[in-house]
Amino acid sequence: MKLVMGAAVLAGAASIALGGFAGLAWLAPVPAEAAPAAREAKTGKAILAEQRRARGAYLARAANCMGCHTAQGGRAYAGGRSLSTPFGTFITPNITPDKATGIGHWNEDDFWGAMHEGKSRDGRPLYPAFPYTEYTKVTREDADAIFVHLQALAPVPQKNPPSRINFPYDFQPLLSLWRMVYFKPGTFQPEPDKSAEWNRGAYLVQGLGHCSACHAERDPLGGIGATVGGEAAGGGQIMGTNWYAPSLNGRHEAGTASWPLEEIIQLLTTGVSQRATTSGPMAEVVGQSLQHLTKADARAMAVYLKSLPESKPTPPVSAPARTEQAEAWLQQGVRIYKKHCEDCHGASGEGASGIYPALAGNRAVTMNPPINAIRSVLNGGYPPSTTGNPRPYGMPPYAQVLSDAEVAQVLSYIRNAWGNRASMVTTPQVDKSRIGIH
Ligand code: HEC
Ligand code: HEC
Ligand code: HEC
Repeated sequence: MKLVMGAAVLAGAASIALGGFAGLAWLAPVPAEAAPAAREAKTGKAILAEQRRARGAYLARAANCMGCHTAQGGRAYAGGRSLSTPFGTFITPNITPDKATGIGHWNEDDFWGAMHEGKSRDGRPLYPAFPYTEYTKVTREDADAIFVHLQALAPVPQKNPPSRINFPYDFQPLLSLWRMVYFKPGTFQPEPDKSAEWNRGAYLVQGLGHCSACHAERDPLGGIGATVGGEAAGGGQIMGTNWYAPSLNGRHEAGTASWPLEEIIQLLTTGVSQRATTSGPMAEVVGQSLQHLTKADARAMAVYLKSLPESKPTPPVSAPARTEQAEAWLQQGVRIYKKHCEDCHGASGEGASGIYPALAGNRAVTMNPPINAIRSVLNGGYPPSTTGNPRPYGMPPYAQVLSDAEVAQVLSYIRNAWGNRASMVTTPQVDKSRIGIH
C-alpha cells in the first residue's frame, strides 16, 4: 500500500514536470489506477530512494534536529541557534548540504560518526550539547535515512559564529575524558520479552526522542546519572535554563504509569490533556516534534512511558506550619489570586476544561522544586499550537506586574489551596529564577 501511494505522489510530480494537461490533472486527486503507469516511468530504485528520504524527514522530526539547528526566525537547519549551558554558549552548526558552510561534503560514514560516536568529520569530539549520548542508540539504517533527507535540502550558505566555550571546558582533553566516563556508543537493543510496540516506544524515547537529554538528572559535570528506563531516572534542571524537567518515573512529576493510554497519547500529540499542560521547552518538543508522530508511533511511545516503573520516591509533604506570619503571607496570595488569576483559573482553581489548566490537583503547581510554576507566572506562555489544538489560549507574563514577594505569595497560596499541599515559595526563590530570563 505504501509503495502504491509513493508511486502516486511520484506520478503527480512527473506530471507537473510534463506540464499542460498532465499538470492540470494533478490538481484533481490522482486516481489509484495511475500508479502502475508511474511505476513504469520511474524506476523502482527512484521510488525507494524517495521513500527513504521521506522516512528520513519523518525521523528527523521525531529527533527534532530542526529545533536546535534553526535560529529564531532563521532558515531551517542552517544553525545559528545559541544554547546557553554552564559550559558555555553553543552556537549550533549549519547542517544543510552547503559545501562551504554546511555538511555538503560529508558522506554517510561521516554522518554516522557524528550520530553514533559524537565525532565531527575531522575526528574532533563533539560536545554533548548535541545529544549524541542518546542518538547513539539510533540504528544505522535510520541514521542513513536522516542523512539522505538532510542532503536533499536546499543548501543554505550561512556561516555561524563559533561556540563560546568557557575555560576550562574548552580544553579538548577534558572533553575526551568526559566522554570516557559518561559516553558509550551503542545502538538500541530490543528486549525480547517485551512486545514490538513497547520496543518501538523505547527506541523512540531513548534514541530519537532524546527525552533523557532533558529529563535525566545530571551531575555537575553534565553526566547523566540515570536515564529513562534505568533504575531511577531522576528528573533535573535543564542546563542553562530555569526549567526543571520532571522525572518520567515519578507519579508526582512526569510519570504517566497511572494514566489511561489515550490521555498520554493526547498529551504527547496535542500538548494538553485533562491532567497536564505542557509549557516552555516541553511545549516546543510537542510543537516541533511529537505532534508529527504517526498514530502508531505516538501510541508506542505512550505504551513505553506507561510501563516505566514509579521509582522516584515522593518525599512526604506536610502542610506548612500555619503560623501567624504564614497566614498573612497566604492572605496576600489570596488577594493577588483574586485580582490577577481567578478570571482564567477559576475561584476554586478548577480552570476551564481544554482552555485554561486547572490548578487544583495539578502536579505542575505542587512540584518540588517549584521553579516551573515560578517560570509560568514570570514568563506566562502558551501550550504548543498543534493540529489537535491549533489556537491554544495563553497566559500573560507577570514579571513586570508582580514583585518577587507577590509571585512567591500567590504561588504559596495556590500550592496550598483546594486540597493542594506543598512547601511555601520564598522571595529569594523567585529572585533566583528571574536571573537568566530570555
Ligand atoms: C539539543 C540541541 C540539538 C539537537 C536536538 C540536535 N543537535 Fe546537532 N548539534 C548541536 C550542537 C550544539 C552541535 C555542536 C557541537 C559541538 O560543536 O561540539 C551539534 C552538532 C551537530 C553535527 C556536527 C556538525 C559538525 O560540523 O561537526 C551534526 C552533523 C548534527 N549536529 C546533526 C544533528 C542531527 C541530524 C540532529 C537530529 C537527529 C541533531 N543534530 C539534533 C545541537 C543539537
Ligand atoms: C528540551 C528539553 C526536553 C525534552 C527533549 C523533553 N522534555 Fe518533557 N518536559 C520538559 C520540561 C521542562 C517539562 C516540564 C514542563 C511541562 O510540564 O511542560 C517536561 C514535561 C514532560 C511531561 C509531563 C507533563 C506534565 O505537565 O505532567 C512529560 C510526560 C514529558 N515531558 C515527556 C517527554 C518525552 C516522552 C520526551 C521525549 C520524546 C520529552 N519529554 C522530551 C523538557 C523536555
Ligand atoms: C488569561 C488567562 C490566564 C491568567 C490571567 C492566568 N493564567 Fe495561568 N495559565 C493560563 C494558561 C493558558 C496556561 C497554560 C500555559 C502554558 O502551557 O504555557 C497557564 C498556566 C499556568 C501555570 C502552569 C500550569 C501547568 O499545568 O503547567 C500556573 C502555575 C499558572 N498558570 C498560575 C497562574 C497564576 C498564579 C496567575 C495569576 C498571577 C495566572 N496563572 C494567571 C492562563 C492564565
